[in-house]
Amino acid sequence: MAKSTPSGLGGGGDAGFGAAPHERPVPRISIQAFCEFPDTGAALQRAAADRRLAKAHVTVQLGGIQAAVEHHAANPTPNLLIVETRLQGKTAVDEIDRLADVCDPATKVIIVGRVNDVELYRELMRRGVSEYLVAPLNPLHLIEVISGLYLNPEAAPIGRVVTFVGARGGVGSSTLAHNVGWCIAERLKINTTIVDFDMPFGTVGLNFNEEPSQGVADALSSPERLDDVLLDRLLVKSTDHLSLLASPAIVDRNYEAEHSSYEAVLDTVRATTPCVIVDMPHIWTPWVRDALLSSDDIVIVATPDLGSLRTTKSFVDLLKQNRPNDPPPKLVLNQVNTPKRPEIPIKDFSETVGIAPSLVLPFEPQLYGSAANNGQMVMEVQPRSATAESIRQLAEMVTGRAVQAEEKGVLPFLSFLKGKKTA
Ligand SMILES: Nc1ncnc2c1ncn2[C@@H]1O[C@H](COP(=O)(O)OP(=O)(O)OP(=O)(O)O)[C@@H](O)[C@H]1O
Ligand SMILES: [Mg+2]
Repeated sequence: MAKSTPSGLGGGGDAGFGAAPHERPVPRISIQAFCEFPDTGAALQRAAADRRLAKAHVTVQLGGIQAAVEHHAANPTPNLLIVETRLQGKTAVDEIDRLADVCDPATKVIIVGRVNDVELYRELMRRGVSEYLVAPLNPLHLIEVISGLYLNPEAAPIGRVVTFVGARGGVGSSTLAHNVGWCIAERLKINTTIVDFDMPFGTVGLNFNEEPSQGVADALSSPERLDDVLLDRLLVKSTDHLSLLASPAIVDRNYEAEHSSYEAVLDTVRATTPCVIVDMPHIWTPWVRDALLSSDDIVIVATPDLGSLRTTKSFVDLLKQNRPNDPPPKLVLNQVNTPKRPEIPIKDFSETVGIAPSLVLPFEPQLYGSAANNGQMVMEVQPRSATAESIRQLAEMVTGRAVQAEEKGVLPFLSFLKGKKTA
């Protein structure tokens, strides 16, 4: 996609928005670590389990430099070798020199030590060591260092992926994904693409009053051909800042796609759009699991009932276990106070799942019904409602950006005063 297109990076007021350089996934490299102390081993294991290292092949063993030398006397060295030394000063340098004898010249080396020794650091840099880190290691810092070694600092920025998933069918996950995506695009002025992965039943076209399109299905069927030019053809431009990778929403078609195609599509979209909102269907397959685990942020939408509670708890536990270095997902309790429906109290819900809801949204059939029937967003139908305000808050939470006063649409009076002052 050309940079001037509506969804292109740098095309709007979204300067600097996207995944931070150190948040970028590390490429498919092999990493072998030999540590001396259990705390270093634990930090390395925690880093190895991180989503940003999901493509890398990491092995961690004990024994420090001695074990590394013995192992690599007989085996080739990996792309990156991380070794811990318990020694200091000259003795440490001598030990590391023995490692150099068995190390392939293309292998990068990170040394972990226990002391902050500037002389040792300089000596190691002179010998071509990539980095010297002082234990205890922080897993996120280690990932940042590894990313820095393998990613070109000149590389183009990539977008931030926020995935919306429902704890049950029909809880309002797609509605919120679309409303939040619209708010990010129109109020925060960050170029955004909403990807509707609900191929047979997706509602993105309906909700934005656009014709259904084969967009996401075509992208998934030929990921090898998908580049920014083809993607641009498949996108529906809803507004200057908002694009849709819409679903066909027909049942008379086979949507089977390779597991890897979903990742390839998201990689292409995030290479061209600073903010990517994924509208996940309510199904559970290996690709859904992987797409969820690799997202930069996740919003779980649930209703206050037993089915939602059980699934939210298993989502939260799964994410906690597989994303050890990420904050927990955001929880939205939706359709609260539905008339005549017995509900689980919010306090009990949040205590059971272990996270407090970021938002609680009431059941408002009139508001959502009119929005859906008009193909409009809640903020367009009732810009000053409490629900519009909540959607704005969620958009701010997932982007870390604040809507400017004039964009909130609540201060025409103040802008009038401003005009007077300067007049
Ligand atoms: N707070 C609410 N009050 C009233 N109606 C709502 C509310 N939130 C969503 N809805 C309505 O609920 C219906 C289902 O919403 P939506 O399609 O977004 O759910 P979903 O979780 O994506 O469902 P699916 O499992 O089919 O993907 C829609 O008609 C929507 O307008
Ligand atoms: Mg949906």
